[in-house]
Amino acid sequence: MTSSLVRGSQFDRCPLTGTISVPGDKSLSHRVALFAALANGSSQVSGLLDSFDVRATLAAVESLGAHVELVSDPSGLSGTIAGPITSRSEESFGVHEPLQIDCGNSGTTTRLLLGLLSGRQLNVTLTGDESLSRRPMRRVTEPLSEMGASFSPMDHLPITVEGSASLRAIDYHSPIASAQVKSAILLAGISAQGTTSFSEPQKSRDHTELLLPAFGVAVRVDGLKVSIEGGQELRPSDCAVPGDPSSAAFLLVAAALLPHSQVTITNLSLNPTRTGFMAVLRRMGVSIEIKINERGTLGQELTGDVTVSWRDNLKATTVTADEIPSLIDEVPILALLATAASGNTRFEGVGELRVKESDRLSAIFEGLSVLGCHAVVDGDDLIVSQGPPTHSESTFSEPIHGEPTHSGPAHGGIVLSARGDHRLAMTWIVAARAFALDIEVPDIDCCGVSYPGFITDLLSLSGQ
Ligand code: S3P
Repeated sequence: MTSSLVRGSQFDRCPLTGTISVPGDKSLSHRVALFAALANGSSQVSGLLDSFDVRATLAAVESLGAHVELVSDPSGLSGTIAGPITSRSEESFGVHEPLQIDCGNSGTTTRLLLGLLSGRQLNVTLTGDESLSRRPMRRVTEPLSEMGASFSPMDHLPITVEGSASLRAIDYHSPIASAQVKSAILLAGISAQGTTSFSEPQKSRDHTELLLPAFGVAVRVDGLKVSIEGGQELRPSDCAVPGDPSSAAFLLVAAALLPHSQVTITNLSLNPTRTGFMAVLRRMGVSIEIKINERGTLGQELTGDVTVSWRDNLKATTVTADEIPSLIDEVPILALLATAASGNTRFEGVGELRVKESDRLSAIFEGLSVLGCHAVVDGDDLIVSQGPPTHSESTFSEPIHGEPTHSGPAHGGIVLSARGDHRLAMTWIVAARAFALDIEVPDIDCCGVSYPGFITDLLSLSGQ
């Protein structure tokens, strides 16, 4: 277990400097594992994220019959994933009791599996931890039921799915922009009869559309509409997963907050549906240099290196609802950055944050309030005003237990629960380091959901 006390005061706001790579992209790692398991043959993979979430997907495909042989190396997990996952019928698989698959904390594992299993004649129960069992599943079970799969219950895990060998294609108009919903429908669409289409109000991350062709599956993209022809076979593909921009965001924002910092992160996914936070950093006055690699390393994904150099005088910005899908996982860390920018930064239309690994909207409000910053939730908007967390001279004493204080300095030690949510844990760790505060994050180990080595990497950029 990592120590839950982050002693930011010992660094006295010294800069972050250096060049580093971050672990493999979480969204891509899930998809590589699932698509490789669907393909008939062996795919060579490298750079796969070694984290709780991706391990849940790997364990799932193994229990469905894929052969996974991976070893840990400096890039993450490398080796082979061989499919196809079982096409065993109910006679040999789950006839008496459904097969159980534990999705842990991972919404991506759950929703993509619900889509994948919809077209299989299997009886599988998906379970998850407390946080995952609270998250809404009807957004996928409803359209997948329309295609012919059965789910019981429809709303929350544990859910038993009974797939169908004769799925119907649908033309689905999703009320929300969601890559998980889109991917679930497309994965079911591969087994359906006819052309399945998915449209959404804004473009969510498009890794599924970009990666399926590398596995031999044709996907048509027409603006916000994606279509797939049923009956296509996946063939194996060699995949090197680039670094996760969402993980990089924590280090880049820390560099933007700490005077005289300069941090370069190499070999990141620069997929435009993921880099919205970089545009926001630039608008706020952060110096950010993006160098795109000549050739992508995975399918059609853009990759490259990003350097952030600290600049004084950050300014507030408005992040519009249209931009939100491209930075949905970066709102907590951008909200922390906003405390150091002159004016009021507004994040419009961030209601979807209420149903992430935790209710991130209330958690950001509460956490920033505990830190003595000013944040307001106005309907589905979040507004953060200038007024960074107060530099605490004292060592850890008199903890403030997550009680919102709406203004004024934080005194003594601070306890901030991450609500078991990895992105909140990393936000509070950055707050401690960037503002020289001592913060206890009791559930700090949840960083392992997406970035197990986060503290080590932050320390290495601190010269330790
Ligand atoms: C993900 C999609 C996003 C994101 C999540 C990962 C994915 O959710 O928040 O962390 O890998 O498809 P949406 O389904 O809301 O787009």
